[in-house]
Amino acid sequence: MMTPYRYSRIAMALHWAIAALLAFQLGLGWRMVDLGSAAAMYAPFQLHKSIGILVLALSLVRVMVRFVRPRPAAAGSGLTGLLASGVHAGLYAFMIGGPLTGWALVSTAKLKLPTLLFGTIPWPHLPLGPVFHEPAEFLHELLGWIGAVLIALHVAGALRHHIGAKAEPNVLGRMIPGAGAARAGLVWGLAAIAMLGVVLSLPWLVYGKVAPAKPVAASSSEAVVDELAGLDASATATEVPMLQASASATAEEEAPSRWQVLPGGKLGFRVAVNGEPVDGTFSGWSADIVFDPEKPEAGSITVRIPLLSVSSGDETRDTMLKGEDFFGGGPATAVFRSASIKRSGADRYIAAGTLSMNGARRPVTLAFGLKVAGDKAKAAGTTTLDRTAFAVGKGEWASTDQIAGKVDVNFDFEAKRLKR
Ligand code: HEM
Ligand code: HEM
Repeated sequence: MMTPYRYSRIAMALHWAIAALLAFQLGLGWRMVDLGSAAAMYAPFQLHKSIGILVLALSLVRVMVRFVRPRPAAAGSGLTGLLASGVHAGLYAFMIGGPLTGWALVSTAKLKLPTLLFGTIPWPHLPLGPVFHEPAEFLHELLGWIGAVLIALHVAGALRHHIGAKAEPNVLGRMIPGAGAARAGLVWGLAAIAMLGVVLSLPWLVYGKVAPAKPVAASSSEAVVDELAGLDASATATEVPMLQASASATAEEEAPSRWQVLPGGKLGFRVAVNGEPVDGTFSGWSADIVFDPEKPEAGSITVRIPLLSVSSGDETRDTMLKGEDFFGGGPATAVFRSASIKRSGADRYIAAGTLSMNGARRPVTLAFGLKVAGDKAKAAGTTTLDRTAFAVGKGEWASTDQIAGKVDVNFDFEAKRLKR
């Protein structure tokens, strides 16, 4: 086989693609472990796993290419040549060992997080026992540093060799497409080093400003309840006659009114993941409401929630929530049916009933505020559920170590009185 002066195009393409991905991957690894909150870490972790597996695949191809495509004779001789070859071998070990230790540590974690590569390809766990977790994590962390040192040595060696070599005047050009002259090799080599530096620091730019999930949803609906309860005091002059009118109108009628929920209503939940709140909502829920503030006992509320409409602001997490372990394992619709509604204060009510979800049926009490003005009503309320009572979170998620068992449910909507 003829020994070419330069690497093959495919070898060059893989060299630079892997170099860029590794630089980003190192920065991402170091950045993401410092993000603090589980909610903020979720997306970067998924990205880190995705890129890591991509690096593994590309590196395996790279090794195969090395065997089938002719490549230049090792640059340098004697000790320098040996050093270069040693660093190259170390780099290959890092390119393959880095992803493998990462994959192993993820596969052996006590609470395994499903991996969905680039949000689409489900990735399996390695069949390893939990005893491998600590060693894998230790090695993975160590390999990150070893890899960084090897890259630094490799780059320094390539530059030194390029500038100092007499026998092979354009070492950098061997790995840079189109850089036929030594000067072009040096310019493009330096540009590549600068680019890798930028790529390495990208994770700090992208994930530098990640704010922890805002603790708003639950407290805002509580605020609405309070606001609704306090409306009497702050009611404007125009609202007061309307309220009186509706009160006298309903007094004349026999059956309580039916209400239609208006678009824009919100039904959401909040749960602590590693102590950090994560908020989610369901869309497309519907409610049959028969209710009269004068006769709450005669009312009834039925709410239907399509569980697979869940959304928590993160595609990967949503896919997980829609999976078998969470909302995808039972009937697709959860149903709350009130059994009794009682007044608990001015414009405040308590609806006791049952919630059927995921094949389980449990008593649930909703506390809500409701204010009627003419044919419009505003309602908001909260309740707290124990997700384990409904088997939301199966297998490794049944434990409440990471995802709390207590889930706050909140709703906030407007409704229109239906004409009879
Ligand atoms: C994450 C970064 C990098 C990794 C993992 C990496 C990895 C490697 C590996 C494994 C080889 C050996 C190829 C073989 O013979 O099979 C190689 C060759 C080479 N790399 Fe890199 N590299 C990186 C960054 C760089 C940078 C930034 C430069 C230049 C500024 C560079 C320049 C070269 C050159 C010139 C060769 C050919 C050396 C020769 O002909 O003996 N590499 N690289
Ligand atoms: C291209 C190869 C990879 C490199 C260079 C790399 C690099 C890193 C680095 C530098 C860290 C931070 C370590 C620390 O200081 O705590 C890290 C952490 C981590 N990596 Fe990777 N990684 C790679 C591939 C993977 C893969 C393929 C996975 C999983 C499939 C993975 C999963 C993780 C996890 C879960 C952590 C956090 C570990 C902890 O909590 O300490 N990595 N990685």
